[in-house]
Amino acid sequence: MDVLKAKYLDLIGKADSESGLEDLRIAALGKKGEISLQMRELGKMSPEERQTAGPALNALKDEINSALVAKKAALGDAALDERLRGEWLDVTLPARGRPLGSIHPISQVTEEVTAIFADMGFSVAEGPQIESDWYNFDALNIPGHHPARAEMDTFYTHRAEGDNRPPHVLRTHTSPVQIRSLEANGAPIRIICPGRVYRADYDQTHTPMFHQVEGLAIDKDISMANLKWCLEEFVKAFFEVDQVDLRFRASHFPFTEPSAEVDIRCSWEGGTLKVGEGDDWLEILGSGMVHPKVLQAAGVDPSVYQGFAFGVGIDRIAMLKYGIPDLRAFFDSDLRWLRHYGFRSLDVPTLHGGLSK
Ligand code: PHE
Repeated sequence: MDVLKAKYLDLIGKADSESGLEDLRIAALGKKGEISLQMRELGKMSPEERQTAGPALNALKDEINSALVAKKAALGDAALDERLRGEWLDVTLPARGRPLGSIHPISQVTEEVTAIFADMGFSVAEGPQIESDWYNFDALNIPGHHPARAEMDTFYTHRAEGDNRPPHVLRTHTSPVQIRSLEANGAPIRIICPGRVYRADYDQTHTPMFHQVEGLAIDKDISMANLKWCLEEFVKAFFEVDQVDLRFRASHFPFTEPSAEVDIRCSWEGGTLKVGEGDDWLEILGSGMVHPKVLQAAGVDPSVYQGFAFGVGIDRIAMLKYGIPDLRAFFDSDLRWLRHYGFRSLDVPTLHGGLSK
């Protein structure tokens, strides 16, 4: 019995798995186990022998049993410890953000432009998308016969038969908001007006609805130099570059005099656009000094006040900044496109926090 006891306690001590332990239990206490066979021998013994051997065997059986139970518990604890080590988790880590949808590049760029001009003291103004032809054309020095009306591929609304008033239009640019804001607030004024505009045109870089942001600064002493500085600051901040060359090209708009279209220096090396370097120029906006007739139409005295205006295509600068090749995809509502080009919903662009990061 002592031999059996020493043997099994030793083997149990060395067991390293629950299945090994089960094998030992069967070898010792199973039907044909060594200890069970000894129990069977009791029948052949004399009553005196049985009296000492019986309790001793039972005690051995109990001892082996409890050694098995204790070892099984120990093996279980070890397995649990092992698992806990493997599945260790740092509950102090910040939560992993699950994006709530995403921000469309147009909204993102509108926010970026707004943040930049807000920093220069411009506030945001808005106007209707269905506009009278007075605000969209006449007040902006585009009279009825003017070729700009035809050039803009205007969408006209329908008038009932016999109604001879001029039809409303879907605004072809954000410039009518200049007139509305001056009428409502007078001069001096410093505003930007982002919003949707409409022209009947459709190809890779044109869609019938697109977005512009208008800028307007009117005061007693605003010059072309102020326009130039503002636009340079804007382009540097927007494209997130330290240096950028702008080219002011003489142009013509009925509502500004003089007028300039503005190009930025860029390169297309390797098929990707880099702003601020290279030998190419890319037109990004129209601008000029507000025409005295426009100020007059808005009730502002052009002998006292003057200033500049500009209009930027939001979609266009979004395509440039974020390398988006086809304008039409902006409005397809393709979720894969939106996930790829969209922005995190909680990252609000600011100048101090970063525009696009
Ligand atoms: N309204 C012009 C356009 O849509 C842009 C512009 C705005 C030009 C203001 C000069 C000044 O093309």
